[in-house]
This record gives sequence, C-alpha cells and structure tokens, in this order.
Amino acid sequence: MIKRFVCSGLAMLGTVSALAGAAETPASLMAQYAKQAGVPVSALSAERGAALYRTEHPGRNGQAVSCAGCHTANPTQAGRTRIGKRIEPLAPAANPQRFTDAAKVEKWFRRNCQDVLQRECSAQEKGDFITWLSQAK
Ligand code: HEC
Repeated sequence: MIKRFVCSGLAMLGTVSALAGAAETPASLMAQYAKQAGVPVSALSAERGAALYRTEHPGRNGQAVSCAGCHTANPTQAGRTRIGKRIEPLAPAANPQRFTDAAKVEKWFRRNCQDVLQRECSAQEKGDFITWLSQAK
C-alpha cells in the first residue's frame, strides 16, 4: 500500500520534471553560450572569466564595482548584497544549485552585467565566467 503510493508519487514527479524541460548543468550552459558565440567550448577561457569576475569598474555613484564586490574574492564563499543580504556561493563546487536553471542564470547575468559593466555580457563572457566558476574549489 505504502509502496504503491511512493511509486505513483515518483511517477508523477517524473512527469512534472519532463514537462518543465531538462535541467541545465554548468557544462550544458557552457556549450550553449559557446554555440551562441560561434566558438568551440574549448575556446572558453577560465582566465578571462576570472578577470571578468575580479575587474573593478567605475559604478554609477563613482564607487568601484565588481562581481567580486558582492560575490566576494572567493566564489566558494557566501557573499553579501550592498544592503547586507546573504548571497549563497556562486561556485557550483560549494553550491550545486548554481548554473542549473537557464532562466535564472540569464536573469542575473543581465541584471548584474548591467550593474557592473553598464552593458550586457556577451555569450563568450558568460561562457568564460561559468568555465572559471566550474573550476573554483
Ligand atoms: C550588487 C551585488 C551583486 C553584484 C555586483 C553581482 N552580483 Fe551576481 N548575484 C547577486 C544576487 C543578489 C544574485 C541572486 C541571488 C542568488 O542567486 O543567490 C546573484 C546571482 C548571480 C547569478 C545566478 C547564478 C545561478 O545559477 O544561480 C549569476 C550568473 C551572477 N550573479 C553573475 C554575476 C556577474 C557576472 C557579476 C559581475 C558582472 C555579478 N553577478 C555581480 C548579486 C550581485
């Protein structure tokens, strides 16, 4: 009786996740961004990703801003927003939920690249960024 209930529950879960579409992984997102950029995945660069993460840019109010400013110098650690709200670590090694939801990833790239660079990030930059974070331990 209980077993049957569990089985039908699992079957239902299977249907729901099939409807929601396959979850992304850091590797599948890297492949998508490389394709968008028109380069092979092997052309994505962890070094450029790290530079994108660390480089400071003049912010709107004259203060220097960078990705590391909120996500901290070490992306395996929790960060803080400007109003002090905790941000879970960005590196998948420390937070397996990162880079598994394409819509969430796109939303935050758009918002944070605008915030820091005052423009959107290119597909190549997004691919570089995930390449670097995937290696952070
Ligand atoms: C003002 C603070 C702030 C800055 C600066 C910032 N971020 Fe974020 N970032 C956040 C917050 C808040 C979230 C969403 C909360 C969460 O997911 O934990 C987030 C989430 C993300 C995500 C979502 C990843 C996922 O799969 O969940 C990506 C990608 C991201 N940021 C990239 C960047 C990049 C690239 C930069 C620099 C160009 C940057 N962020 C700078 C605050 C910031």
